[in-house]
Amino acid sequence: MNGTVEIDLTINGAETRIAAEPETPLLYILRNDLCLNSPKYGCGLGECGACAVLIDDHAARSCTVPVGALSGKSVTTLEGLGTTTSPHPVQTAFIENQAAQCGYCLNGMIITIVALLKRTSSPSEDDIRNALRHNLCRCGTHMEILAAARSAAEMCRNEANDGREELQ
Ligand code: FES
Repeated sequence: MNGTVEIDLTINGAETRIAAEPETPLLYILRNDLCLNSPKYGCGLGECGACAVLIDDHAARSCTVPVGALSGKSVTTLEGLGTTTSPHPVQTAFIENQAAQCGYCLNGMIITIVALLKRTSSPSEDDIRNALRHNLCRCGTHMEILAAARSAAEMCRNEANDGREELQ
């Protein structure tokens, strides 16, 4: 293929070398080449959030990120957060709050809340709503999603407190 370059980055904790044209959207590489299918193709324009991933702990829309810009970066997808037997607390919160109907937006919702909780362990209601305001859900599951985000924040705070108590 003309213009193919090699890019070294970390994906879900594993050092990975990708051969691709640098302008290829990260989303295509994740889904088509690496079979990481949690990021979804929604709008393809950076507007819906379905394709979100973490890049160095910040939520990013993988449909608009050229893979050539990711040399040396760390990408985490939903697959890298937890497993079915040991889910991330945010994944647990979404399951417990049944915060899905069709589920297409869930990847972006969860990734966005994980990124928010990396920035602040005690997000306000406004913080949660502002973080999620550009993630689209067409089913109308917004109340359950907000409830899941609140309980995820509480779970993460409790985990952090437990960790501190163990160290004392
Ligand atoms: Fe990337 Fe919609 S598919 S933001």
